[in-house]
Amino acid sequence: VLGKPESFAVGEISEEWKKSHKVIVVREEEGFYALRSSCTHLGCVPNWQAGQKKFKCFCHGSGFRLDGDNFEGPAPRPLERLKIFLNEEGELVVDTAVRFRKERGEWEREGAYLRFGSDA
Ligand code: FES
Repeated sequence: VLGKPESFAVGEISEEWKKSHKVIVVREEEGFYALRSSCTHLGCVPNWQAGQKKFKCFCHGSGFRLDGDNFEGPAPRPLERLKIFLNEEGELVVDTAVRFRKERGEWEREGAYLRFGSDA
């Protein structure tokens, strides 16, 4: 449980749960998604580089865009997304056991993205 969705600012990229749960939470205008912070090359932990607007893996130099797409370095596929939803109390929850892989079309599935308006 990550807390109330209202506690995230639009545009926020939260690495608060990266160490404990390998989760990066991204809040954008239309909603939320959760990225698994494990490089798809060999599993190092990528870091958000605000200046370059990318997640950079320092192990072998893979880079990922904000949405998780890989675009440089040896990583063979995008970062995985994790199931994100609201519980009955209206709190944001990430289920790290449920993963979605873009190259399999799984980012389109329910749970890979949580619609949540900024005016809600
Ligand atoms: Fe990330 Fe190799 S583990 S680039």
